[in-house]
Amino acid sequence: MRTASARTTADNLGEEAVEYYRRNGFVRVPRVLAPDEVREFHDAAIALSKRTESLHKGAIFTQLVNAWREDEVLRRLTLHPNLASIAERLAGVPLRLWHDQTLIKQPHNQRPTEFHQDQPYWPHADSPSSLSAWVALCDVPVERGCMTFIPGSFRRTELRAQNLADPRSLFEVCPDLEWDERVTLPLRAGDCTFHHSRTAHMANANVTDEPRVAHVVIYMDATTRYTGQPHVVTDPLDLKAGQVLEGEMFPRLPA
Ligand code: SIN
Ligand code: NI
Repeated sequence: MRTASARTTADNLGEEAVEYYRRNGFVRVPRVLAPDEVREFHDAAIALSKRTESLHKGAIFTQLVNAWREDEVLRRLTLHPNLASIAERLAGVPLRLWHDQTLIKQPHNQRPTEFHQDQPYWPHADSPSSLSAWVALCDVPVERGCMTFIPGSFRRTELRAQNLADPRSLFEVCPDLEWDERVTLPLRAGDCTFHHSRTAHMANANVTDEPRVAHVVIYMDATTRYTGQPHVVTDPLDLKAGQVLEGEMFPRLPA
């Protein structure tokens, strides 16, 4: 049985968790949020999904990008000092917010999120340490679509973008990764995984009757420069290739 115990913070996170993250490119961190916060954020995520259109149009997930710009409650989650402080301790460098996304796998959605690295999708240069906090806003057992990671895959810095709708995409780009160990991490509500932006990861289909509600906060190195490559977050902004991504859209965190 799970006993109630203190929240994990950047101060009480064990050094072995930091070492695990640096070695493998991901780590599970229990109880990053208090139970009453989880309930509030869960309900805000579901409410936002009912009044906003999903960016992703397939069955893989409902994807609400930059939820923090749309909803005051989710803004508190995305800017949460506990998440950002743990992210900074793991990365070991100053960070900014890149963007957030609420990702809901609908009940019986039939579709996994297939293996991919995140970094190749992004218009980023000089960002070797970017990472995501994937926060479970409900219990996420394997059957509801928790994350699976390939340890050490973040060292593959040369791979072109992979298609998260295609189960063969990562392995066509990098055949040897198919035979590497995989680590699957179920989460209780309020737990979190952190993964480096080049760590290969996937999430199972949701075969349960409840939606899988996750909120992902993506941090980048504070030095990250814009490459000019198209991206839904940067396309509406008046940016020049080569400039540092900074300002109110990309705040330093923890604030
Ligand atoms: C998912 O939650 O389904 C995928 C998350 C990710 O690709 O980072
Ligand atoms: Ni991803």
